[in-house]
Amino acid sequence: MSSWTDADIPNQTGRVAIVTGANTGIGFETAKALAAKGAKVTLACRNLDKGRAAVERIQAELPDAVVALEQLDLSDLGSVQSFAEAFRASHDALDLLILNAGVMVPPESKTAQGFELQFGVNHLGHFALTGALLPLVQNTQDARVVVVSSTAASMGSMNFDDLQFERGYKPWPAYGQSKLANQLFVVELQKRLAAIGSAVKVTAAHPGWTATDLQRTSGVFGFLNPFFAMKPPQGALPTLRAATDPQAAGGDYFGPSGFMQMRGNPKRVELVDAAKNEGHASQLWQISEELTGVRFELSA
Ligand SMILES: NC(=O)c1ccc[n+]([C@@H]2O[C@H](COP(=O)([O-])OP(=O)(O)OC[C@H]3O[C@@H](n4cnc5c(N)ncnc54)[C@H](OP(=O)(O)O)[C@@H]3O)[C@@H](O)[C@H]2O)c1
Repeated sequence: MSSWTDADIPNQTGRVAIVTGANTGIGFETAKALAAKGAKVTLACRNLDKGRAAVERIQAELPDAVVALEQLDLSDLGSVQSFAEAFRASHDALDLLILNAGVMVPPESKTAQGFELQFGVNHLGHFALTGALLPLVQNTQDARVVVVSSTAASMGSMNFDDLQFERGYKPWPAYGQSKLANQLFVVELQKRLAAIGSAVKVTAAHPGWTATDLQRTSGVFGFLNPFFAMKPPQGALPTLRAATDPQAAGGDYFGPSGFMQMRGNPKRVELVDAAKNEGHASQLWQISEELTGVRFELSA
């Protein structure tokens, strides 16, 4: 089914979703589409003013939408823990945990805990968030964790001897590493969940080339956006399919069906070869636990 559209999203009434980075771009469209299908969606945003504006935009278009806003800054593990604790205290289910937020090729910068920003936000922050919320996800029938990666994962490699690019920051290799880390996380989390007989599915998606704020610091892509890029509602479809297609299996990855997976409706695509390195997946998991201090409660 390569013409999958938002009309294929099953009814989500009664389901609870979190979308990180939902104030703009692909995250915003993901949150809006899920709310349109009846899900109760929490927009997890670092900037509350932008988050409030996003909630207002959704409610103006969908007066019956049930959307909430909570602060989450993935570049600060304290914020991740506060968000997760508050969410766990106020909810007894989490059907969809959508790890969408991301930064791409910023000038060299660090998270609050001193991690390279892209590895810290795109991978470590989401790793910590998932670990903190997994008990809730595991208590929910038919729950999914959805990770938003990128075709840039294909140019990434895991620099285990210098994960934080302390010996010289290179923005694109750091972005590629963070997006490869997203895929290795999918593989390892799915494997660990399957090993304990959990029914939770971990799926992945990438939006091809979609015109969003992501290209704010990557001049050439921003310049070419009007000519080549998809618009955010279409860019959100792979994520929405990974989150809601009843046929999706744990470990499935969805991306646009067109030329070089840059645009088009979502179809199943292959994880990059480097994401199939089980040794790297396990090594990254251990390092991520050490760096974040988050241990996953993976019991049957
Ligand atoms: N657009 C593409 O062509 C493309 C291609 C491949 C992969 N992707 C992936 O798609 C995902 C969504 O990107 P997008 O294109 O929609 O970009 P976007 O419009 O820039 O949205 C990114 C979102 O992440 C949020 N964010 C950034 N740093 C954060 C932090 N420290 N804590 C919490 N939230 C944070 C942003 O918040 P602010 O608004 O406050 O900055 C924004 O809401 C990313 O994972 C990206 O890597 C996009």
